[in-house]
Amino acid sequence: MEVLIMAVHILVASFWIGGMLFMVLALSPYVRKLPEDVAVKAYQEVGKRYSFWGTVIGLPVLFITGVLNMKTMGVGFSDLMNSSNSYASTLHHKIHLFILTVILAFVHDFYVGPRSHLSKKFKITARVIGIINLILGISIIYLAARLRMGG
Ligand code: HEM
Repeated sequence: MEVLIMAVHILVASFWIGGMLFMVLALSPYVRKLPEDVAVKAYQEVGKRYSFWGTVIGLPVLFITGVLNMKTMGVGFSDLMNSSNSYASTLHHKIHLFILTVILAFVHDFYVGPRSHLSKKFKITARVIGIINLILGISIIYLAARLRMGG
């Protein structure tokens, strides 16, 4: 069961980060060449679906499977305050970055993103938040790799 939970955690993490990388590296360069109104529509349609699977389903699943992984690794939330334990302290940083990711994802998907056709300000803010969340995601992967090596 522990292996299955970890496999789900890694699968969803791949979707979360992979989806953002796909948008930046594959979708965006193409969509940006389309006429403005078509491009905005494409971003909104793709964004809506990614937001459902990534933000609404994916992030809660990452949290639940992450907490179950903690149980498997024998770490409790009270251990996270122990800064002399490098595993617990790396996990503590990982959870902080995760909380920031969740806040930014909700602001991006449910406030700024749906308004990005209204003004340039919303459009640029949506792009900047998207890129910050990609950087946070990659940083979380780095911390996950450190955990794998013991912290
Ligand atoms: C965007 C969010 C997240 C991403 C991308 C992510 C990614 C990953 C990945 C790729 C691994 C596999 C590393 C390995 O081989 O062990 C992993 C392991 C793990 N994750 Fe996450 N994770 C996220 C959120 C969380 C959260 C919120 C928690 C805790 C509440 C958590 C707790 C753990 C634990 C305990 C492990 C096992 C680490 C070990 O090998 O000792 N993760 N995570």
